[in-house]
Amino acid sequence: MTKGADTTHESAATHDRIPGLEDRNALVTGGTGGIGLEIARKLVASGATVTVNGRNAARGAAALAALGGASNSVFFSEGNVRDYETAARVVADAASRGGGRLDVLVSAGAEGPSGPKPFHEMTPRELEDGFAARVLPRIFPVHAAVPALRAAGGGAVLLITTDAARHPTPGEAIIGATGAAVILLTKALAREFSRWNTRVNALALTLTSGTPSWDRIFSAQTFENRLFSKALTRFPFGRAPTAEEVARVAAFLVSPQASQVTGQTVSVNGGLSFGGW
Ligand SMILES: NC(=O)c1ccc[n+]([C@@H]2O[C@H](COP(=O)([O-])OP(=O)(O)OC[C@H]3O[C@@H](n4cnc5c(N)ncnc54)[C@H](OP(=O)(O)O)[C@@H]3O)[C@@H](O)[C@H]2O)c1
Repeated sequence: MTKGADTTHESAATHDRIPGLEDRNALVTGGTGGIGLEIARKLVASGATVTVNGRNAARGAAALAALGGASNSVFFSEGNVRDYETAARVVADAASRGGGRLDVLVSAGAEGPSGPKPFHEMTPRELEDGFAARVLPRIFPVHAAVPALRAAGGGAVLLITTDAARHPTPGEAIIGATGAAVILLTKALAREFSRWNTRVNALALTLTSGTPSWDRIFSAQTFENRLFSKALTRFPFGRAPTAEEVARVAAFLVSPQASQVTGQTVSVNGGLSFGGW
């Protein structure tokens, strides 16, 4: 290379590309917005065939446009993965693009019926819904994908969970408890799935900018607005992580770059939760 040559473009082009994801067949549930969409963007940039899933067709179309529109490596599969049959159909749809093989599953679709709320203010129905809405959409796609993951051999699963699973957070007793279930599941499945060389990891998230949750939290004067406004002042680097910063770690974890990482939950929290907040 010529001394002083401008390498800016080369760096920009290679920066987003995670080695080893070329031609991998991937499904991102909850991939039409927020963190899921950013993860899909990284996978597409790395040369993977990516199916994004969400419940809303218009959001699916917008996601496809954001991911490169007419490209024949990006697809949308509509459906609520809280329902097992739907999750199985979405998985089958994505796996069909890899000849029945699924190399990467990012299980990010799991919106609770509401945000944080003090435990004593929750109704019995909200307690029950909180568990179902936050756990089932995360594990149903994984269970339905087992044959396709086995067929792939050397595949990777990434579950999305929350740092409230590690650090008690006001108003997030159920969110934290369901998140902790995902962390244990990650370890247990990593052991079980190792027999066919499939890795299972999780990302524990905190307040993340550039996401639907962020927009919801800061658009109205609510309990969660007050809660997270306080948290915002406590990030050691002076700001919350972005969805793009989360997606970089996600793409690394599902790539062969992380071939010896399994059963782990990685917090992408900008240091917020050191010793609680
Ligand atoms: N953002 C944060 O600050 C934060 C912090 C901690 C944890 N998390 C967790 O990280 C995940 C992503 O959060 P986010 O804020 O980026 O986005 P989000 O509001 O959870 O939505 C992301 C996408 O998931 C889809 N989705 C939601 N539930 C689904 C379901 N049951 N089946 C299929 N698709 C579904 C939504 O599209 P449709 O509505 O069209 O289906 C949306 O496009 C969530 O599980 C969230 O709990 C986020």
